[in-house]
Amino acid sequence: MSHSTISPQRRAEPAAALDAEAVRRAYRRWAAVYDAVFGGVSAWGRRRAVAEVNRLPGSRVLEVGVGTGLALPHYRPEKRITGIDLSVDMLERARSRVERESLSNVTALLEMDAEATGFPDGSFDIAVGMFVASVVPNPRRLLAEMKRVVRPGGHILFVNHFAAERGPRWWVERALAPASRKLGWHPDFALEALFPEEDRAKAALVPMHPFGLFTLARLDI
Ligand SMILES: C[S@@+](CC[C@H](N)C(=O)[O-])C[C@H]1O[C@@H](n2cnc3c(N)ncnc32)[C@H](O)[C@@H]1O
Repeated sequence: MSHSTISPQRRAEPAAALDAEAVRRAYRRWAAVYDAVFGGVSAWGRRRAVAEVNRLPGSRVLEVGVGTGLALPHYRPEKRITGIDLSVDMLERARSRVERESLSNVTALLEMDAEATGFPDGSFDIAVGMFVASVVPNPRRLLAEMKRVVRPGGHILFVNHFAAERGPRWWVERALAPASRKLGWHPDFALEALFPEEDRAKAALVPMHPFGLFTLARLDI
């Protein structure tokens, strides 16, 4: 990947890439405490992304990196949700939630790599990834796969933390970057790591609470 259009301080690729096994290991540790530790701070962005999905036309929704399924109860009943994740430990919790809350519109929860899914082209109207783009081993491959499985005219949404371009937050994020493998996400994840230039120009970006720490990004394809 060429870095020529990116300033020397900001790299398109995060400092310490995660591979699939590192993701599974990290989320095996996180699964039991994920909702308690991360559920609160991320709730606003998740609710906002699901509200956007609910507003969009089409019922076939793919949620990539569904995790413990925190978003699942918030989809409207007419949306048919397929959730996929690499981590069986996270999926187990999502399955319990579906059962506990009788979420009959969740049609499948599958152990699957979101970068290479096996769904036929154009299988979904909408694909959404919440707090997952900075976790997958190869974000550009994730985006390419989401584009493939969403029908022409469909929509792709992400909620994620994207690294600050400058200032104190930039310094903190750079300092945390070496801990990526333990954290299971990249604090220094740049928008460029996910979106090639043509998509950056097209994407609608909305800063989210708290403090604009997360961004809702929507791409119409
Ligand atoms: C930070 S959690 C987010 C979970 C959920 N989306 C939420 O909003 O709480 C990231 C999730 O992405 C999953 N993940 C990471 N890489 C993946 C991949 N290549 N394919 C599928 N899931 C992946 C992890 O296992 C984890 O469950």
